Amino acid sequence: MPEAMELAFEERGSGPVLVFIHGFPFDRTMWIPQLAGLAKIRTCVAVDLRGHGLSEDRDPGDYSFDLFADDVAATLDTLKVQEADVCGLSMGGYVAFSMWRRHRDRVRSLILIDTKAEADSDEARAGREATADLVAKEGMGVLHEKLGPKLVGGNPSQDVIDRVQAMFTATSPEIAAADSLAMRDRTDSTPDLPTIDVPVLWLHGEEDQLMPLAGAEASAKEIPGARFVSIPKAGHVASMENPDAVNDAIADFLPAKLPKA
Ligand code: MLT
Repeated sequence: MPEAMELAFEERGSGPVLVFIHGFPFDRTMWIPQLAGLAKIRTCVAVDLRGHGLSEDRDPGDYSFDLFADDVAATLDTLKVQEADVCGLSMGGYVAFSMWRRHRDRVRSLILIDTKAEADSDEARAGREATADLVAKEGMGVLHEKLGPKLVGGNPSQDVIDRVQAMFTATSPEIAAADSLAMRDRTDSTPDLPTIDVPVLWLHGEEDQLMPLAGAEASAKEIPGARFVSIPKAGHVASMENPDAVNDAIADFLPAKLPKA
């Protein structure tokens, strides 16, 4: 596996660190509403996974969720923090599960948004290869036409539609292909669910077309004591579509003061 690297990030606020990990094929800018809304309770740090946003695109032939998790841990080292609240949306949730497997001493709590614990089925794995081929041959615009409408709920704002499109087109086809193959090969996190013994908040858009609510709720039940909150008026990118509901749920979940270590 390649060496871990420090990621580019945007930081806002003060206090304990809450790190945000974006979905596919996005970047740190998807978390603008969370940085704005939660900076009063945490140091909010939104990272760009390698190859995305402002992070260097090292080793795209070798992407994996273990590597992405190591990159986030290396970035916590840069920030000189031992522990963080870790929040990931969709592909970012896959990174969060890998953080739990590889760096659990760095995870103070987990906030999982519109993600899933299961590995890909054979059909989904074939779909990842098709996506990698598609972007290599036809570029990100075509992937956006295909996937973009499935990422939002029934009545998305024009701003969310535009921001989703901007992130698709800002991502290089090579990186989107590398992510797809990493998602194809990711570990099944379902056996980890009962082992998670830090506080967990699972948020899920009620209109998520990619990852149905019922499956997410069933997975959350496997995590001892996890809190599950469905987010109305939101699809797969719930934190962008209904940021107030997401921010309120996160603020309600995170303790105002941390227990002394
Ligand atoms: C994402 O939003 O990160 C992706 O839809 C995740 C996936 O395709 O599994």
